Amino acid sequence: MSDYQLIGPFAQLLPMTNLGLKGPLSDDNLVVIKQAGILIKDNQILQVDNFEKLYKTSQPLHPALTKLNRPMVGLPGFVDAHTHICFGGSRAKDYAMRNAGKTYLEIAKAGGGIWDTVTHTRNETQDFLTKGIIKRATRHLANGITTIEVKSGYGLSVKAELKMLRAIQMASTKCTADLIPTCLAAHIFPKDFEGDIPAYLQEISEKLFPILQKEKLTNRIDAFIEEEAFSPDLIHPYLAKAKKMGFDITIHADQFHPSGSKVAVKHQAISADHLEASTSKEIDLLANSEVIPVALPGASIGLGCAFTPARRLLDAGTSLAIASDWNPGSAPMGDLLTQAAILGTFEKLSNTEVLAGITFRAAAALNLKDRGKFSKGNVADIVAFPVEDYREILYQQGQLKPIKVWKNGKDSLF
Ligand code: NIG
Ligand code: FE
Repeated sequence: MSDYQLIGPFAQLLPMTNLGLKGPLSDDNLVVIKQAGILIKDNQILQVDNFEKLYKTSQPLHPALTKLNRPMVGLPGFVDAHTHICFGGSRAKDYAMRNAGKTYLEIAKAGGGIWDTVTHTRNETQDFLTKGIIKRATRHLANGITTIEVKSGYGLSVKAELKMLRAIQMASTKCTADLIPTCLAAHIFPKDFEGDIPAYLQEISEKLFPILQKEKLTNRIDAFIEEEAFSPDLIHPYLAKAKKMGFDITIHADQFHPSGSKVAVKHQAISADHLEASTSKEIDLLANSEVIPVALPGASIGLGCAFTPARRLLDAGTSLAIASDWNPGSAPMGDLLTQAAILGTFEKLSNTEVLAGITFRAAAALNLKDRGKFSKGNVADIVAFPVEDYREILYQQGQLKPIKVWKNGKDSLF
């Protein structure tokens, strides 16, 4: 069997290769190749071009031909750069209470909130958690998402965080999509911990961090900077230690109050996620840094809160990734394309800005340099929709589903 594969013709192909990491993107700059083909070697992109031309020039390589029998638009497989899809339990009761006007405190008093998910997650086996991740990642794959970040953060002890991260590692061996694990042991302070916040963070950094590296469970550390979670002052030593040990940093920032962006910039985080409460000050800080802002419209929709000021961020010169934040509390929907399309309508984002936000800019938010664009050498992750005009994809606001998804060059939709 040949190492080479030629797929096409696509009615339109969006290679995304000419687009920049930062700042506004106009649809006028979106390169659309008509009647296009993709030449793949093993699991990597070799070339994209006009299908007939590629067909002729690739004959000496004897590529296996995957002929598409209907019009399709193809683009790089989507990347969801922020999820919490490893969990036990449901928070349907929280959702109902919140929409009935109950406050955060009333919901917490009734046994809801993040702590409720911690209790359920601690009570589940690693195997149960693994199965839940596989189920959700499989649904994401059918929606064109070929790379999925997955956080821990509902364990909140060395033992329970390890169980979550081992479940994510186990799931990644069984999922077609790539799973990118992140340790969110600094999600909230566990109220059963015997000691104060600095003692908890010290225990995690001293006991858990070395195991994460030894077992290769993750190279990413996340922290929720918020009044009900961790303050900038208390989190600094924790993040400094993580950075010193070589972990990438990502931050839950400015969700309800501004402050996390500053922490993200100070610790040269790869990304700052949420930012619903960011003011001009935080936007300027981010614009003068290499930190990638990640909008999470699913959390705004789930909580009934304002959207991340995506337009203002881009106009200030930042990058912008868009992720689902899929979790049982604030973002139960878990439909990235629908959420990205909706964010686009409210924030007045071009098609190119939205699609960049779920492809190469999202890959950059995970520090992944080998995906999100059809560049030579990138992994051959491709999503195709059964339409002739790429603008149909966001216009149909998530109701148009992929007809084909290739992961590492393999047809993966069954
Ligand atoms: O990203 N903001 C904090 N953490 C999650 C919510 C988790 C939960 O409610 O279970 C988020 O929205
Ligand atoms: Fe989150």
